[in-house]
Order: sequence, then C-alpha cells, then structure tokens
Amino acid sequence: MTHVDLPVRALAAEILLAVENGQSLSQCLPPRLAGVAPSERPELQALCYGTCRWFHRLDAELQQRMKKPLRKPDRVVHHLMLVALFQLRHSQHAHYAILNETVEACRALDKPHLTGLVNGVLRAAEREGEPAVSGPAAQYSHPDWMVEKLRHNWPDTWQQILTANNAQAPMTLRVNASQISRDDYLQWLQDAGLEATPTRYAPYGIQLTKPCGVDRLPGFADGAVSVQDEAAQLCTTLLDLAPGQHVLDACAAPGGKTCAILEQCPDLAAVTAIDQSADRLPRVQENLDRLGLYATLKEADAADTSQWWDRTPFDRILADVPCSASGVIRRHPDIKLLRREADITPLAGLQLSILSALWQTLKPGGRLVYATCSVFPQENHRIIQRFLKQQADARLLEPVLSWGIDTGFGRQLLPDAESHDGFFYACLERVDE
Ligand SMILES: C[S@@+](CC[C@H](N)C(=O)[O-])C[C@H]1O[C@@H](n2cnc3c(N)ncnc32)[C@H](O)[C@@H]1O
Repeated sequence: MTHVDLPVRALAAEILLAVENGQSLSQCLPPRLAGVAPSERPELQALCYGTCRWFHRLDAELQQRMKKPLRKPDRVVHHLMLVALFQLRHSQHAHYAILNETVEACRALDKPHLTGLVNGVLRAAEREGEPAVSGPAAQYSHPDWMVEKLRHNWPDTWQQILTANNAQAPMTLRVNASQISRDDYLQWLQDAGLEATPTRYAPYGIQLTKPCGVDRLPGFADGAVSVQDEAAQLCTTLLDLAPGQHVLDACAAPGGKTCAILEQCPDLAAVTAIDQSADRLPRVQENLDRLGLYATLKEADAADTSQWWDRTPFDRILADVPCSASGVIRRHPDIKLLRREADITPLAGLQLSILSALWQTLKPGGRLVYATCSVFPQENHRIIQRFLKQQADARLLEPVLSWGIDTGFGRQLLPDAESHDGFFYACLERVDE
C-alpha cells in the first residue's frame, strides 16, 4: 500500500514513528504533505505538530492504559493511539469519529489484529477522561532530562519556560525597512483586514493577532515583509551596521538574518553568507531573490577558515551557531523527541570552535554577535565566558537594552508564551592592540 492511500491519521502515525527514529518534522513532513490532497494538508500538519507537542503527556497516559507495550513491528499503532489521544484531549473533533477513524486507520496500516486493543484503549480513554499524570515531565510534556536541566538552570522560571514551550507561537513579520516603514505596513495590514501590533523590542517587527498564509500578506511576493520571530530579529539589530562594512553571516541558512542585514543597511560594502549544509544553502538564495538582495554564498564549514576565507577581514560577523534549539520548541515541538542530553556537550564544543575560528577573520575594532536559539547556559553565556578566558583580544560589549536577562556574559531572552522565542546574544569586540 502506498502512503497516498492511507488515511491522514495513519500517515501522521507513520511520521511520528519516523520522528521517534530521529528524523525531524521539517525533513519528513513536506514529502508526505505533497502526497495528500491540499484540503487534507492542514489536518496532517496539525496532527503531527500537536501530537509532538503533547507527546510526553499523551505517552504517559497511554502507558498507564496499556498492560504491556506493543511489539516493535507494531509500534506505529502506538503512535496511531497517541494521535487519537491528542485529538480527544486537545481538539473539537467528535469523539465517536476519532474512535471509528482510528480503528479504520489501524486496518489500513495492515494491523487488523490490533483493532480490538485500539478500540478498547480509546473507549476507556474517552469514558474516563484525562487521568492525573505524575511528575513534571508528563505534566509539562517534556523529556525528563530537559525538565531537570531547565529546573537546574532556571530555578525561578523553569515552569514558565515549559509552559511557554507548549504554547502556540504567534506569526511575526519583519518589515523590509528599505521598502516601507513599520507604521505604513501596519496600515496595509489593517486595510487588508488583518489585525496586528508592533513588536515590543524589535524595531521592524509586527505580530499578527491570528496567523495567516503568506499569500494574504500585502506585498509579500515583492519583498515588503518576511516571516521572522521577534527574538531572531534582535540578532541583526545588535550588529551596529553602517555603510561600507564587510559583513559575514557565518551560519546563514535559510537566510532570514542575511536578508535582515541587507535590508537594514543597503549600502554595506559586501555580505558573505556561509553554511555547511548543501541542502539548506539554496534556501538563502530563494530568500535573497524574493527580496531582490545580493550576497556571496559559500557552502563551507565555518570552523575551517581555509575552506572559505580570502583573508579580507570582516567589520561585522554574525555567528548564529547550530544549537539545541531549546528556545524554539513551541515552533519545533519535535525537538522534545529528537534532542538528547548527550547532544549538548558536543554542541558546546562545536560552538566554541566555530566562534574561535571566526574570530581570526574579524577586523581589529570589529564586532561579532554570537547568537543561539537555546536557553541552556552551557551553549550560551558559558561559551562566552570560556572564549573570553582564552582570547585576550576579545572584549564583551554591553549595549544598553530594555530586554532580556543580563547573564554577565551576554543577554538571554526566555521564550514568552505571548510573543518572542528564547534566544541568547553576546556582542564581542576585537580590541585593536
Ligand atoms: C541556527 S541555524 C541558522 C539560521 C540562520 N542564521 C537564519 O537566520 O536563517 C544554524 C545553521 O548552521 C549551519 N551549520 C552547522 N554547522 C555549521 C558549520 N560548521 N559551519 C557552517 N554552518 C554550519 C546549519 O546548517 C544551520 O543552517
């Protein structure tokens, strides 16, 4: 049976199984979406994202309801029941339809021997309602290690972080400052019947009251706006860009910040954008093309300057390094399933090595902004602390900011359920000796 024949909930179960086996939703969902009717795509997407978001809580409930786990070859049926539990607990879908469709999907997945079990478990779940689950990991629907790490790192705010991670993220836009002012674009939105407010901290940001397709955004195809979270927008505002500068965006794909740099200061001497991923780099070009912008793109390892640096020093460098993405879980709930505690130390090693290599390409007197979408200090202020110890010509700049937590070695924004993602930023200057 090809996946095209499967009901949407069965497809969702297969996708969740792939996520459990290490694939991200952004890898495995698009090809599946392309294979279903356009009218079914929003439902497939909502089932995958919603079930990932509540996975740990739903899984705790399902484990309570099952006498023993399913055999490995039947694991997809476990995910099928999680999808049904997600709908029972978090959707308006009629309960009888959820039960009937799930039993049908179990058959479609070629598991007719499990229809009785599925029916029994879901009937009990419907009749008895959501049970009490024990422990913060199930309660806040996060893996144990993440709860423990957050509790340890943020003893006063860990519950707020976990709650924000489960919220639906707003849709935020960055107005193209070289085309239109934020006030004028707010007026365009109002004329188009779209309610929106300016972001609190990012000067070109607009938050929509309700998300919508980009085709409904006035001037989107002509580059008047881009979709970008407020916290991501703040990275480029810290660069202190000025005409004539040579700028490097070191981990650039898909290019949101490369484009923001060029929009904010159209008279830069040159912008170079590098990324190690051959798959992701073309996205930078697509974004530049839509906005009518130009940058030199290179597929390279930022940590190995011999691959890409022509020895012209940069005035400004943005190092938006690879990280755990623990600050953007509400936009990528699959991170809860994909990330392991053991990933963090190697990531910190990679971050420090990228930062150290980039430093050699920075002009004396130049500025480097180190950023991550992580909330773990190990990837954030501790990297800066370690770097400053080893790099005598590096100085931490402390711009006066109305936002974030001053860690002593950079600023931390924690995710806010109502507005921005979680991000970390440090501004470093290369002292001219
Ligand atoms: C946080 S994302 C960058 C997001 C991007 N700055 C934006 O705003 O659209 C990190 C990027 O680093 C890239 N990357 C990972 N390791 C790298 C390396 N050693 N050198 C260059 N890029 C790397 C990844 O492919 C990924 O695209």
